[in-house]
Amino acid sequence: MKKTPTARIDKLLGSTGYGSRAEIGRLARAGGVVLDGEDVLDVSRRIAVTPDLSARMEIDGEPLDPVPGLVVLLNKPLGMTCSHKEDGALVYDVLPDRWRRRDPAISTIGRLDKLTTGLLLLTDDGDLLHRVISPKRHVAKVYRATLARPLQGNEGVLFASGELMLEGESKPLAPAVLEVVSPTEALLTVTEGRYHQVRRMFAAAGNHVETLHRERLGGLALPDDLAPGAWRLLNPDESASIFDEPA
Ligand code: URA
Repeated sequence: MKKTPTARIDKLLGSTGYGSRAEIGRLARAGGVVLDGEDVLDVSRRIAVTPDLSARMEIDGEPLDPVPGLVVLLNKPLGMTCSHKEDGALVYDVLPDRWRRRDPAISTIGRLDKLTTGLLLLTDDGDLLHRVISPKRHVAKVYRATLARPLQGNEGVLFASGELMLEGESKPLAPAVLEVVSPTEALLTVTEGRYHQVRRMFAAAGNHVETLHRERLGGLALPDDLAPGAWRLLNPDESASIFDEPA
């Protein structure tokens, strides 16, 4: 069983973005740090760092932010970018400002293009991130694509072949599964995360993707009630469901 981590209160609050040790000391002396209903005066005290701390600790009268190990599910809206190198609003901008100062930092688990919408995960858990994007895990990603031209009928075989080579690459794509929804709409399940993969797959089949939306990652589906731009934290069972087979 994993050992419960412990940390000094000032260190924990520092790494969750609440300020320097000196600032946290001052805040505590002013009565701004409360644990289990009691003012914390000694911020050098070590405590167990467990997810229930957000319910047990208040900072300036507000519940403590999630402790390290958080996973955020975002319904990425059109036009937001995952990369600091691109122009435009960043997916990180939807999260509270203080979360920018967290250490470990929050990163996206893989990326979606600026013009792709849907299920995007962000986490500060490096192990989880690597497990999800590792090619060895074959975590399925399900995309809904709308297309500029009607499907020709041969795309499913091409994508499933395990022989499709994208332009500029030297290794063929792993087999992918195409489900036709209408002549110009399809669901595509891939297990890799190559650059602009879905758009390039349809381009290789002589088509053009007009809209692209990620609906599912492994066993985790984007909930219908999460509006574009909205996000919420995943609970541990939901995070674990990423490694389940898609339903
Ligand atoms: N494939 C793409 O082409 N774009 C994405 O954002 C994700 C998969």
